[in-house]
Amino acid sequence: MKHSHVLDIPLDGAYKVDPIAHCQSLQPFVDTNGYRLFIINNADVFNEEWLAKFPVPMTSTSFVFVREPRSQELMPPVHKDYFPPDRGYIYAINYTLQGCESSRLMWYENADGTPAVTQYPDREVVEVDCVVCPSDRPLLMDTTTYHGIKVGDTERWVMSLRPVDSSYDSNNPITWSDVVEQYRNIFMSEITQEMKITAIAGDIYDGMTQKEVDAFVIRQIEASLELLPEADVNGMYEEILAEIPQR
Ligand SMILES: [Fe+2]
Repeated sequence: MKHSHVLDIPLDGAYKVDPIAHCQSLQPFVDTNGYRLFIINNADVFNEEWLAKFPVPMTSTSFVFVREPRSQELMPPVHKDYFPPDRGYIYAINYTLQGCESSRLMWYENADGTPAVTQYPDREVVEVDCVVCPSDRPLLMDTTTYHGIKVGDTERWVMSLRPVDSSYDSNNPITWSDVVEQYRNIFMSEITQEMKITAIAGDIYDGMTQKEVDAFVIRQIEASLELLPEADVNGMYEEILAEIPQR
């Protein structure tokens, strides 16, 4: 299953003020181990017209996560934001303000196939999905599955918007699959656009063997193709595989 989808809502016209400069004028809510968390009032930073492009209204505040270069899964470590049966976030809408090219977002499942129930893995996990969080459009992301970050050479700043239904509500319980259906009509329509985000982020292949790079790209393709009618898929494999860097 694919754990994220790029939404076709460009960032043009999104801001009243520069979001990084705005955060730098605030006290971080958390500042520890190379990790800073800012909480911003949307009304201070975003234009209302831009926020209204999403199918679900946003809460009045958003998070900005900052991670120093080369910090890997330190703070927070691999985790999930939904704690069954009744607490936490089902999904988030994230994009990078800085550091997109060299950082990765990964999802994990228990290696033995058992359902993951705790906030942090209590047994061996395997990577099941991996993307670059884009900087030109928001990414709808699953927070009910274990996830973690690997940061490259640039400090990574991420904006995280929280739609009003993203926090678990026992009166209206929704799953990641429900979220996908709710947003499907604003997914990026071109699979190649999504792959391009991966392709431009050449640095993410640093430290990966050719085998890992191939597996990463093929997994991206397979997950994306699930969304398309078969007729649209012909020829795409070859086209996209040609973009895998050879080293
Ligand atoms: Fe998270």
